[in-house]
Amino acid sequence: MMNIIQKAGKSGAFLAPLAGISNLPFRLIARSLGCALAYTEMISANGLVRKTDRTFEYLKTCADDHPLGAQVFGADPEIVAQASSIIANNGADLIDINMGCPVKKVIKTGSGAILMKDPVLVARIITSVKKAVQIPVTVKIRSGWRGGLINAVEIARIAEDSGADAITIHARTADQGYSGKADWRIIAEVKKAVKIPVIGNGDIWQPRDAVKMLRETSCDAVMVGRGALGNPWIFKGIIQACSGQTENYLPSLDQRQKMIKNHWEKEAQFLGSKLADKRFRKHFLWYTKGLEGASRFRQLAGKLKDGEAILNELNEYFRSVREQQVKIMP
Ligand SMILES: Cc1cc2nc3c(=O)[nH]c(=O)nc-3n(C[C@H](O)[C@H](O)[C@H](O)COP(=O)(O)O)c2cc1C
Repeated sequence: MMNIIQKAGKSGAFLAPLAGISNLPFRLIARSLGCALAYTEMISANGLVRKTDRTFEYLKTCADDHPLGAQVFGADPEIVAQASSIIANNGADLIDINMGCPVKKVIKTGSGAILMKDPVLVARIITSVKKAVQIPVTVKIRSGWRGGLINAVEIARIAEDSGADAITIHARTADQGYSGKADWRIIAEVKKAVKIPVIGNGDIWQPRDAVKMLRETSCDAVMVGRGALGNPWIFKGIIQACSGQTENYLPSLDQRQKMIKNHWEKEAQFLGSKLADKRFRKHFLWYTKGLEGASRFRQLAGKLKDGEAILNELNEYFRSVREQQVKIMP
């Protein structure tokens, strides 16, 4: 029987857990463009068990936000299990355990990628989460801790033996952070070593990269992180590319403008406009990256006070681009 990962993997790419980014508005936008499964950002197991308000914000979801993976991080098997059971009672379709985050703040608590150095603890955490919840449990790992310590295959086997329902590999070591090129060969090795579904992740920037990863690694699904920033259309492009279509998947100027407005409105509704003012700036920059003549807008956006003002400036930019287009038409 196909599990949730295999089923979703057949219908499109997944949106990665992205701290500060993969919130409800962004997940809904990605889904509207064909994303087949989306994850919350990583949520502290301690925060959930202690019932910190901020932590519960990350769990906010709605009827259109499925299938949803909620990602948890922690190092104490009992606490991670308790947190997972809270997550399961709050509408997530699967629990993903973070064993790949290289950020100091996380590592120093014994969570995230440092767990890859402690296979015994990896097994204990997964076993205890599996006992606590009925929904599927997946694990997200790196290739290894550092260059000389590539152990994704060993950790994936342990995850499988401990009951994990799927495994995601971000094909970089923890000490690489997000730099250097992802080495997809490790994804292929893990796929050969385990029977549970494998999700490949790292350096999918264009739809054709997804097709290449699927072909080269035989993974069951692909996960997109940074490639979706300012480009949620990549999910539609991946569906097209996987079915052999080569037409342009990118939006028209009008569609891009509408999407930015739509995303901004969703964020303002979700966070309140004050917080959205702060948090949405990066999206304005991502959405306009590489667009012709956008550098003036991008410079100005950094100086403007609030999202409304940036949105007005953006409309002005799109209007001037349209005018230019009309002028150069014969
Ligand atoms: C800003 C940012 C935040 C991230 N937050 C998380 C997170 O909360 N949990 C996680 O497992 N990975 C996180 N990641 C890693 C991504 O999920 C993904 O594994 C990584 O970016 C590689 O994929 P990509 O090359 O498609 O970006 C984050 C990455 C970035 C750039």
